[in-house]
Amino acid sequence: MEQTQVAVRRSRTADLEGFDAFVAGLSLETSTRRFFTPTPRLARRQARLLLANDRNRGAFLAEEGSRVVGHGCWVAVSPTAAELAMVVADGAQRHGIGRRLMRAVARDLSDAGLGTVEMVVQPDNRAIVALIGRAWPSARARTEDGLLTFVTPLAGQESAAA
Ligand SMILES: CC(C)(COP(=O)(O)OP(=O)(O)OC[C@H]1O[C@@H](n2cnc3c(N)ncnc32)[C@H](O)[C@@H]1OP(=O)(O)O)[C@@H](O)C(=O)NCCC(=O)NCCS
Repeated sequence: MEQTQVAVRRSRTADLEGFDAFVAGLSLETSTRRFFTPTPRLARRQARLLLANDRNRGAFLAEEGSRVVGHGCWVAVSPTAAELAMVVADGAQRHGIGRRLMRAVARDLSDAGLGTVEMVVQPDNRAIVALIGRAWPSARARTEDGLLTFVTPLAGQESAAA
């Protein structure tokens, strides 16, 4: 897949069906990396929340034509920090979509006045650990309940996600 065929845009309520199909199509490994438990289907309420855009959260989709191939979102966890999460369809990985989603989501939470980003990842998740390392070289991780939480201030780092 050529990266140029993929558009990244803010999500809308009307994306629910396409988003459900995207989640249903994820491999067990990819969905577990994202949701920390195999998740072939999201509860309707959770899916709506993951697509919502308001004062405390933002969400973006990557689309190839009308097919959802990626999702990234942030949710405020304090007055100054937000947690960022994302997932790319198995067949679309390693084409730069994760990096584009990360950039869009980070810019959005920064525009919302939140200066610090957090990401919670499995320690053996080489893909996201490498992506974080490239985007935010000064990010530091702490271990909690067997998961790594990367924390980084965004100031001066956003362009590094390019
Ligand atoms: C993490 C994830 C979103 C990355 O998406 P992606 O579209 O494949 O990432 P990109 O193509 O933008 O890769 C950007 C960089 O990340 C690193 N990277 C991505 N996948 C990698 C892999 N499998 N192994 C090592 N490094 C990897 C590389 O540095 C890569 O740059 P390069 O291709 O020039 O070497 C994707 O692997 C995924 O959906 N994983 C499952 C969900 C998940 O782990 N989410 C994170 C927790 S919320």
